[in-house]
Amino acid sequence: MASPRLTHAVEAAALDIADDARVVLLEPDPEADFGVLAENDVIVQQNFKPAFDAFASMGMAVVENAEGPADIVHVTLPRSRELARGLIAQAERIAPQGLVIVDGAKTDGIDATLKAVKARVDVGGQVSKAHGRIFWFTSGSAFADWALPLPAPVVDGWITQPGVFSADGPDAGSQALVAALPKTLKGRGADLGGGWGFLTGHLLNLPGVVHVDLVEADKRALDCAVQNVTDDRATLHWADATTWGAPASLDWVVTNPPFHTSRTPDASLGQAFIRSAARLLKPKGQLVMVANRHLPYETTLAASFVHVQELDGDSRFKILHADQPKSPARAGRSSRR
Ligand SMILES: C[S@@+](CC[C@H](N)C(=O)[O-])C[C@H]1O[C@@H](n2cnc3c(N)ncnc32)[C@H](O)[C@@H]1O
Repeated sequence: MASPRLTHAVEAAALDIADDARVVLLEPDPEADFGVLAENDVIVQQNFKPAFDAFASMGMAVVENAEGPADIVHVTLPRSRELARGLIAQAERIAPQGLVIVDGAKTDGIDATLKAVKARVDVGGQVSKAHGRIFWFTSGSAFADWALPLPAPVVDGWITQPGVFSADGPDAGSQALVAALPKTLKGRGADLGGGWGFLTGHLLNLPGVVHVDLVEADKRALDCAVQNVTDDRATLHWADATTWGAPASLDWVVTNPPFHTSRTPDASLGQAFIRSAARLLKPKGQLVMVANRHLPYETTLAASFVHVQELDGDSRFKILHADQPKSPARAGRSSRR
């Protein structure tokens, strides 16, 4: 849920933000309420491309990596504990004598973070609101050891970084997809939501594959993919796969689509990936995807493709194959049935 906590903390008069304070927002939600900063000089750091674009379209200054200096840094707590700690360490670097504000949902671990912060510094104030908490402290140098580790090899030489999807090594669903990949995939294709490059790495080993576009929204994951996928036949794109346009129609799309928005399972993201695949493919093009068994993708697949079948699977995963995308008009008719 978009956080109203900053507004609440200011309006409840607990938190004071001077109009001339330079403010950096680290990884904020575009739907959160930052109206109390209307008079401030604000820079947004966003690594997630759809959110980056949303801030840019609001006319805000948005960067991938904020350096400051700033008077105030607001950290939106991410799910990953290591990334949360890395952002707090970055906030201290950006505003060495300033104020660090940490804002997060209970489900993302704000209470544990507050406890860990309190063990090192005095917390200036805190407010609990909307199933979460916001707290703040004066910046110093208490959290330098929380800095986000650089990308590094984890398993079989694959390079990942804490905070990216499946940071400990290849995802079980993606491994199942690799095992089931039709050897007949030929020509140019895309790996939508390609993460740090595991699927693309394997796709490039198929004899008929001539080019792969890896499309990934998380800049940190993409930066790992840059190190994992060095083959000239791959192009890596920091982009939203639901709106990305390929330079030419594709022969195939492979995907292990995202299935969460924060902690909430969300099948609509995977459904948007399926529609995007249909839009990107040639008339005889094919889609191969993996999904958790319970996720409802079959209706969207049937609305978007002429043929749909389950290639493989077990009690956890299903590997789905679809070919011949329907034209948008036909797809619209079948989805209304
Ligand atoms: C289930 S993971 C699969 C990652 C990778 N293919 C693998 O096998 O390890 C889904 C990926 O989609 C990315 N993602 C989420 N929303 C996206 C979007 N709108 N556009 C592109 N990528 C997105 C996530 O960051 C994540 O890396």
